[in-house]
Amino acid sequence: MSLLPIHLLGDPILREETIPVTEFTDELRTLVDDMFETMYAASGIGLAAPQVGRRERLAVVDVEGAKYAIINPEIVLAEGKARAEEACLSFPDVYGTVERATRVIVQAQDVNGTPFEVEATDLLARCFQHEIDHLHGKLFIDYLSYLKRRAALAEWEELRKQYTGNIRHLKPGAPELVDPEHPEAGM
Ligand code: NI
Repeated sequence: MSLLPIHLLGDPILREETIPVTEFTDELRTLVDDMFETMYAASGIGLAAPQVGRRERLAVVDVEGAKYAIINPEIVLAEGKARAEEACLSFPDVYGTVERATRVIVQAQDVNGTPFEVEATDLLARCFQHEIDHLHGKLFIDYLSYLKRRAALAEWEELRKQYTGNIRHLKPGAPELVDPEHPEAGM
């Protein structure tokens, strides 16, 4: 397995529509394995293909051991609303409060192409919604008010200076520490 570079806000791929997966190959399974490894190395709870520079419509999540690769996912039911802080692995250390459904049912395919359905609540439901947004070029900052989005983007303009070329390279070994002031993991 290998760690994949994470593409950062500013890279156009994060705003592009993904392409449905139609072939369930060994290459696809390797991509999924690499995405899990990359997500864990970043101390994240979710990671979508565009965040590693790929156009396949797929994401991985692991919320407290609830681990899923969701391929061609769709939300078929969403209910309830709650606001909570989110962070994204594609613009680390920027936070924003986003309203999301508290319960969702997601239909997707697994790495072999087998359809499945998963019901999720709370953080897992939030993570699915955040990742499925990524698969359609949408980011959590899009939900912020004009002023809060402007502040978040200004913060990112400073933070991004530590990276070169909209790419974040993770180091193998110890996962990156989660900021104690913002224990929400990135996704
Ligand atoms: Ni994200």
